[in-house]
Amino acid sequence: MAFIVTAACVDCKYTSCVPVCPVEAFHEAPDRVYINPDTCIDCNACVSECPVDAIYAEREVPENLQEWIKLNADEAAKNPIITGTHDPLKGPKCVDPNAG
Ligand code: SF4
Ligand code: F3S
Repeated sequence: MAFIVTAACVDCKYTSCVPVCPVEAFHEAPDRVYINPDTCIDCNACVSECPVDAIYAEREVPENLQEWIKLNADEAAKNPIITGTHDPLKGPKCVDPNAG
């Protein structure tokens, strides 16, 4: 089992999830992050850090986001590890619950 980053991260990339990870499981793509399922130790620390609720335990990923399980597995290791935070993207596809 692993934790899974899903669609809400796209274009947001708050990265507040990243520094709480004890095992550097996060990888950074241009518009999102992924969790490497081979690295994640299922500690659950990252879930509550995401302001757009993008991260789910694998067994709790909603039906409409199931494709993200394979996406994280396939894409994480193709992108570099990220360990720190940076300014969020807050791009046009980012649904920010705190905006407006
Ligand atoms: Fe890292 Fe824990 Fe989140 Fe897995 S569940 S990505 S180990 S913080
Ligand atoms: Fe993405 Fe949320 Fe982390 S927007 S970078 S999963 S804090």
